[in-house]
Amino acid sequence: MSLNVKTHAAVRAKISSIGTYVPPRLLTNADLEKMVDTNDAWIMERTGIRQRHIVEKGVATSDIATEAAKICLERRGIPATEVEVIIVATVTPDMMFPATACLVQNKLGAKGAWGFDLSAACSGFVYALQTGIKLVESGAHKKVLVIGADVMSSIIDYTDRTTCILFGDGAGAVLIEPCAEGEIGMIDFVHEIDGSGGPALNMPGGGSLNPPSIATVEAKMHYIHQDGQAVYKFAVRKMSEATETLLTRNGITGADLSCFIPHQANKRIILSTAERLGMPEDHVIINIDRFGNTTAATIPLAMQTAMDEGKLKKNDLVLIASVGAGFTVGAALMRWEF
Ligand code: UT7
Repeated sequence: MSLNVKTHAAVRAKISSIGTYVPPRLLTNADLEKMVDTNDAWIMERTGIRQRHIVEKGVATSDIATEAAKICLERRGIPATEVEVIIVATVTPDMMFPATACLVQNKLGAKGAWGFDLSAACSGFVYALQTGIKLVESGAHKKVLVIGADVMSSIIDYTDRTTCILFGDGAGAVLIEPCAEGEIGMIDFVHEIDGSGGPALNMPGGGSLNPPSIATVEAKMHYIHQDGQAVYKFAVRKMSEATETLLTRNGITGADLSCFIPHQANKRIILSTAERLGMPEDHVIINIDRFGNTTAATIPLAMQTAMDEGKLKKNDLVLIASVGAGFTVGAALMRWEF
């Protein structure tokens, strides 16, 4: 292995803590069998999902994001007032504005911080992470809180069997800080957007194109619409392409990685990417069975799973990757530093 660690940044940046949160209420495949024409065998075989966590009515993205953030800061042992920036990746903000980052800032008591929301669907966490890393590498900030959080149940049509089986609610937060002497932290990333894929996965209602009206509600425009096969094909191709590019230009192969943490949209997409990378299956983190697709929260939730299972430790070389609505594609390579 010859890892070409880039040295352009005077300051290197790392993830220094993590916190995750899912609401307690479960929606199992057995529950869904009573709601739509589906069955556990189909869902398990096609997606690998067994259950999802769903919020109670009245619980919003800022609530679950704040819970994850509190755990993240408690583990690091710092008060919220030390946080300088809050970036919330989400496609299910509490409302059109203000930004969910502002609501989280207030709930956390992160007085003095600035922040914003970032919309990149399932790649939201990967893009927000990279943005936070750059804010630290630039020397502008020393403590950036990056959160991926979605209440997908708020935009799901629970009469549509093609989408309602896929998604769950959840949140994950990481803290970005400068590396200490000798640490490497974030190494490299590959990101790409392809807006020609927009029609394949979207929520068409509620924005400036189709403002909310009785007609948009009746046409179910405030729900997720997905061409599953089109997204599947793109995801399989681009997840492999982005990760291969990243490994090749850093002089390593899948076998050099301690851990591959992909977006959890479909177990088959994950396994086919891992196979192309030559990653042994036990180095691939899969928790989609427990959480479903939580959009911006899947990767931090999977990071936590990896730590809990003893598969993610200090000094490990980690690859994360995502494909989502947009289309958006993201991959990043880092050393785990805590
Ligand atoms: O994170 C955001 C990005 N999203 C993704 O990455 C999702 C990518 N796409 C997928 O994961 C898969 O396309 C799905 C899991 C959504 C669907 O799996 P598929 O193997 O592509 O199934 P399909 O859409 O080709 O449907 C096969 C059959 C159809 O019936 P016919 O036309 O063959 O009679 C569907 O109507 O399965 C039927 N079907 C279902 N049957 C039972 C669709 N949904 C269900 C269901 N239960 N829930």
